[in-house]
Amino acid sequence: MKKPATLTTPLFIICAVLLTACGGGANTNTNEKTNPATNTSTTTSTSGPILIGIALAQTSNVALLGQEGFVGAKMAEKYFNDRGGINGTPIKLVMQDTGGDEAGAINAFQTLINKDKVVGIVGPTLSQQAFSADPIADRAKVPVIGASNTAKGIPEIGEYVSRVSAPVSVVAPNSLKAALKLNPKIKRVAVFYAQNDAFNKSETEIFQKTVKDQGLELVTVQKFQTTDTDFQAPATNALNLKPDLIIVSGLAADGGNLVRQLRELGYKGIIVGGNGFNTPNIFSVCKALCDGVLVAQAYSPEYPGKINLELRKAYFDQYKKEPAQLTAQSFTAVQVYVEALKAVDKKTKISTLPLNQLRTELNKQRILGKYDTPLGEISFTPGRDLVQKEFYVSQLKVDKDGNNGKFVSFK
Ligand code: ALA
Repeated sequence: MKKPATLTTPLFIICAVLLTACGGGANTNTNEKTNPATNTSTTTSTSGPILIGIALAQTSNVALLGQEGFVGAKMAEKYFNDRGGINGTPIKLVMQDTGGDEAGAINAFQTLINKDKVVGIVGPTLSQQAFSADPIADRAKVPVIGASNTAKGIPEIGEYVSRVSAPVSVVAPNSLKAALKLNPKIKRVAVFYAQNDAFNKSETEIFQKTVKDQGLELVTVQKFQTTDTDFQAPATNALNLKPDLIIVSGLAADGGNLVRQLRELGYKGIIVGGNGFNTPNIFSVCKALCDGVLVAQAYSPEYPGKINLELRKAYFDQYKKEPAQLTAQSFTAVQVYVEALKAVDKKTKISTLPLNQLRTELNKQRILGKYDTPLGEISFTPGRDLVQKEFYVSQLKVDKDGNNGKFVSFK
C-alpha cells in the first residue's frame, strides 16, 4: 500500500486515465442507453436506475481538485451497486463538468436538475462555485451535498444544501498546531491568501485568528489571485520581514507555485498549506520544493474502519497509490445518498414516488442518519453541517529529484 504517486505523469495522461474510468468525458451522461428516469417529468414516478448528479471540475486549473473527487464517486457507484444498490435498484452517476468558475457550475447544476433529472447532486468543487450554483438547486428543491466545499456558510445557503467536507474552522487550526510542535520557537508568521476565492478568504480568517490565539505575531498578510503564476512581489515583501512560519491559503496550482517560489527565493522555515493543498496533484506543481509542507486533513487512508479498508484496497488495485481526501469525501457523499435512499425506500417504495417528492424525502432523510464512512462515523447538525470526529495532519514528502511524493501522517 505504500507505493507513492509518480510525479512525472503529465496532467493529460491523468485525465485520460480518469476519463477511461468514467466511460466518457466532460458533460457526459454515464448512462449507456436512455434511462427512463431521465425522461420522466418531476411529477411522474421514476423507474430504472437512480440517477445521482456529479458536478465537479474536470477541466481548468480546478481539475487538480475535481478529478480526484470524481474518482471517489465512481468507486462508490461500483461499491454500492455490487452490494445491491438501493434495495435492489442500482444507482447511476450522471457527470457534468463544472470547469473552474461560477458560470460552469451553474450550467452543470441546471443540466443535472432539468435535463438529467437527478435525485440529488454531489458538488461543486469550489465553495466559490457553490455560493452561485447551490441556490439554484435549493430553489428547485434538489438536494446538494458538497464533497469539497469547506468555506464558512455553505449549509446556510438553503435547506437543500449540506456537505461532507468539514469546514475550515475545525480543520485548519490543526496544521498550525503541528507546525508549533515541529518548531516551538516560531514567533513571526506571514500569511498569504487568494483574495478572489470564497474558501480561501474563509480559511485565512481562521488561520489568522489561530495565529493570534497562539500568541504569535502576524507580521504580514499578502494577497494574490488563484489565477496568478508569478509571486515574486508578495513573496519578497513577506521574506523581507523574516517570518519563521508561512501559511498559504490557495488552490493547488497557485498555492503550489507560491511554495515553489518561496523556496527558490531562499525561505527555509516551515510552510503550512491550507485545504487547497490537499491533493497529490500538487506534487506536479512544486515537485521537490513541496517537501515538508504541513497540511491538515479530514481523511486518513490509515483510518481502520471496514469501509475505508475496502475503498483503500479497491483504489490501490486500480491506481497503485493511496486514496486522497477528496476521493474519500466524494465516496462518502454518494454513500450518504445511497443509505438515505434505502431508508426512504423502506418507508415508501421509491419507484412509486414522483421525482419531486423523492427529492424532498431524500433531503429530509439524509441528515437524520449516522453513516459509517471512509471518513469515520459522520452525522449532520440540524443546520445540515457535518459532524465528524477524526482529523489529521500530513506532511508532504517528496524525493530529491521531485519524481515521487506522498502525504505522510504527522503525529
Ligand atoms: N476546499 C475548497 C473549497 O471549499 C476546495 O473551495
